Amino acid sequence: MAEVCRVRSSGTMIVLTLVVAVLSVAGCNGAKQPHIVFIVADDLGWNDVGWHNPAMITPTLNRMASEGVILNSSYVQYLCSPSRTSFMTGYFPYRTGLQHEVIAAGQPRYLPAHFTTLPEMLGKQGYRTHIVGKWHLGMCNWKYTPTERGFESFFGYYSGMEFYYNHTRLDGYDFRANKSVALDPTRTYADYLFVDHALDIIEKHNPEEPLFLYLPFHLVHVPHEVPARFENMYSSIQDDYRRIYCGMVSMLDEAVKNVTDALEKAGLTDNMFLIFTTDNGGPTFNGANNLPLRGAKATYWEGGTRGAGFVHSKNLLQKTGYTNNGMMHAADWFPTLLHLAGSKPDSDIDGVNQWDMLSTGVDSPRTTFVYNIDNITRAAAIRHGDYKLMVGSPGGWNGWYPLPKLHAQLKEQLAHDAEDVDQQWKPQLYNIKEDPEERHDLSSQMPEMMKFLQGELEKYRQKEVPPQNAPYDPAGDPTHFGGVWTPGWC
Ligand SMILES: *[C@@H]1O[C@H](CO)[C@@H](O)[C@H](O)[C@H]1NC(C)=O
Ligand SMILES: *[C@@H]1O[C@H](CO)[C@@H](O)[C@H](O)[C@H]1NC(C)=O
Ligand SMILES: *[C@@H]1O[C@H](CO)[C@@H](O)[C@H](O)[C@H]1NC(C)=O
Ligand SMILES: *[C@@H]1O[C@H](CO)[C@@H](O)[C@H](O)[C@H]1NC(C)=O
Ligand SMILES: *[C@@H]1O[C@H](CO)[C@@H](O)[C@H](O)[C@H]1NC(C)=O
Repeated sequence: MAEVCRVRSSGTMIVLTLVVAVLSVAGCNGAKQPHIVFIVADDLGWNDVGWHNPAMITPTLNRMASEGVILNSSYVQYLCSPSRTSFMTGYFPYRTGLQHEVIAAGQPRYLPAHFTTLPEMLGKQGYRTHIVGKWHLGMCNWKYTPTERGFESFFGYYSGMEFYYNHTRLDGYDFRANKSVALDPTRTYADYLFVDHALDIIEKHNPEEPLFLYLPFHLVHVPHEVPARFENMYSSIQDDYRRIYCGMVSMLDEAVKNVTDALEKAGLTDNMFLIFTTDNGGPTFNGANNLPLRGAKATYWEGGTRGAGFVHSKNLLQKTGYTNNGMMHAADWFPTLLHLAGSKPDSDIDGVNQWDMLSTGVDSPRTTFVYNIDNITRAAAIRHGDYKLMVGSPGGWNGWYPLPKLHAQLKEQLAHDAEDVDQQWKPQLYNIKEDPEERHDLSSQMPEMMKFLQGELEKYRQKEVPPQNAPYDPAGDPTHFGGVWTPGWC
């Protein structure tokens, strides 16, 4: 049966469609669900991958992207926790309460427990479910932590970032294996540990069981730390931030190489679907770059929300080696992966199943999505067809930040732009297809389109839940827990 999927002739595709329809199970061959590997890079900019910027040294990612399908219109959220919310639940974050900023260390905020997660659903379909890396969807109570949200194992950290070698965030230690504190007397760079652990999972995995491996790396988020051999690959870059950042990107590339080599060796790649995506656009203020797109991480501009990424599979994609321009959103992975597992979401989620688009290149079923609705900043943005409406402040960092980039020279502009957030922005309208760089505001030229999109936005707003807005709670301070960030204070 597995052979059916490998054949790409159109005659066989009809048979395949029938087989899938009759059995109404996905996984292509209807007999055996594919292994799923979901890799999330943290803070990777649009212009920080080799297929957009040849100066980046990312040979593994380049090869996989060119063998797979490059995603050219794959949207993520403007920030980390909101994007991870969509990955894990299929909802836009304005419906879960996680639409406003990220969960900061010590804030009693979380993905509410009544949301069903992707690993829960995949677990029900017989998947073995593992997360290695960053969680960032809440930790003030055990019930919000990964092993109580559907993952059978967790190896990583709960918060949004930490030092790579000593695994601390605001002087609290944050590194766990399942629920136990994972001590690291060797002070090894976090992503080396993640790769080793992922290899361990892969080697021990029984190939007869479907594997879901969620790999949200710490790379390439700040702090600016990377082993010297990666930084040295960019010795010609003078700016410290950019040089170290680029080194981190190349380390990420090697991490993906080691993991995919292990998957290959374990025989898992013959029936496997792999996603590579960033969680948000690049922080230009930390050395990332999003050119030619406008803006940065933390903004609703394309540079903050249009994610670099690709999908790869040896057996499941009928059309490969091209760039797919179909519109998709981070929330779409949830129903798409459930489809591969032979299941469906059981609630009214925002994600739509993109399997047909990804596997055959047909048009995207998605024509609209919400960049965000944030009732605290009063800002929102929506896309419908080619048009994008933004109301309120897009977030600061509203410019185009050039390369080669000397951070020192940009400091003034960046400091100025960071303050832009408080400006009274009037609503703006862009045609993203014709003007992906968002240079021509059409709001005064197209009043009808403005009215239409404002009406659409109001429809979505009906489903908004209040943003969780919790200040730092001293009860969670690591000093109460022997210096370790520990659940149990909300
Ligand atoms: C990717 O999208 C950009 C901006 O919309 C577009 O200019 C470019 O042609 C697309 N690339 C490919 C290969 O389709
Ligand atoms: C984590 O839990 C999984 C599943 O119960 C188990 O196989 C694994 O050994 C645990 N890891 C650690 C480090 O305790
Ligand atoms: C962790 O490492 C960073 C960077 O070297 C350092 O600034 C910080 O003080 C260290 N934290 C602890 C608790 O050792
Ligand atoms: C990848 O594997 C090689 C060979 O074991 C090792 O030397 C290297 O440090 C690994 N790199 C990463 C990022 O894990
Ligand atoms: C949004 O904010 C307004 C004004 O503060 C308030 O009246 C409304 O209830 C809020 N809506 C949500 C869903 O939080």
